[in-house]
Amino acid sequence: MELTLLFVDDEQYILKALRRSFRSMRRTWRMEFAASARQALEILLKNKIDVVISEIRLPDMDGQRFLEAVKKVRPGSVRIVMSGYADKDLLVKSIDLAHQLIAKPCDDDQLKAAIQRAIMIKDMLERYGLKDIVVRMDRLPSLPTLYTEIKAALRKDSTNVEDIADLVARDVGVTAKILKLVNSSFFGLRQHVTSLAKAIGMLGMDTIQAMALSACTVDQLCARASGLRAEQVWDHGFVTANFARAIARREKMEPEVTDDTFMAGLMHDIGQMVVAVNLPEKWQDACRLAKKQGLKMHLAEEQVLGADHAVIGAYLLGLWGLPEAVVRAVCNHHHPDQSSPGELTPALIIAVADAFAHDLEGRLDSKETLEQIDQALVKSLDMTRRLAKWQKECRRLLDDS
Ligand SMILES: [Fe+2]
Ligand SMILES: [Fe+2]
Repeated sequence: MELTLLFVDDEQYILKALRRSFRSMRRTWRMEFAASARQALEILLKNKIDVVISEIRLPDMDGQRFLEAVKKVRPGSVRIVMSGYADKDLLVKSIDLAHQLIAKPCDDDQLKAAIQRAIMIKDMLERYGLKDIVVRMDRLPSLPTLYTEIKAALRKDSTNVEDIADLVARDVGVTAKILKLVNSSFFGLRQHVTSLAKAIGMLGMDTIQAMALSACTVDQLCARASGLRAEQVWDHGFVTANFARAIARREKMEPEVTDDTFMAGLMHDIGQMVVAVNLPEKWQDACRLAKKQGLKMHLAEEQVLGADHAVIGAYLLGLWGLPEAVVRAVCNHHHPDQSSPGELTPALIIAVADAFAHDLEGRLDSKETLEQIDQALVKSLDMTRRLAKWQKECRRLLDDS
């Protein structure tokens, strides 16, 4: 698939460097270069551009106005904004208009990874017919600043637990949510934890980072629509994430994969809230259809919208630049067989953890729960034997809590 990229920067030497750095990509990327907003808009009007990578400070137009114009001319394009560290406020302000923010100076690999993610996003848009849906959604939540700050802090060797605790503590709501969950005994901590630093020390910075991301996103979505049962979404994500992590550990998956699986568990149903906030009428239609025909929600969404919450949520996480493994797990959590047949993937683990989380009262083994898991998968992965172990593991978590 050929991708057309437009690089915008008023510094000629930067454009030159970009041209040089990405010369090897010429076979798969068609690249355009513009030295001003005006020139960029002219190119956009004449060409189908998939990805715009632009400096936020442009001499002939305010950066936000430029991004708005790009969105208007090419609503389906992916917008990546680059800027210097000194422009942090500017970057934060443009977060609603940009899909990914990159701080300058950034190396070629970082930029390449951002562009590759953009390709994945574009692929999702086309494969699942998401384009029409996304164009109608103009209130997509932005990547929470707190998450970006934690991520930046974790990149520094000097960062310690206290630094992360100080960052999180600035958001009272998120702090309260994290402490409530930490003490919910799902984590199996024997003592009551009242200090964030202590919680982080016990659970690890990656877990706190994922929880901060999820808490901020849920808060953001709830602020935009009343009547959303945020606590329910958050609790369900949390239980699913913990079951998923227990299963991943039981299967001795790599720590990094286990972390990704945990994060995917927390965020797996975020697409439901995104739809409810952005397309409330469609959401109501899907709920009615599900009730009337006794359909699962994701099937009703597919009928009403043409795509389900799994794909929509994954699209958002892809835009935010979350790890590809997380995006794929969320995308396939209702169709784990579509990710990598015959393989034990985070998507499959989330599917099972999700089914368990819906069956807390049935103690994770009601017939219906087990039926939700694709039977071909059950056979191919020797799942019957595995499921019994996973159930035991997750039931133990439930008993502890
Ligand atoms: Fe779901
Ligand atoms: Fe779910």
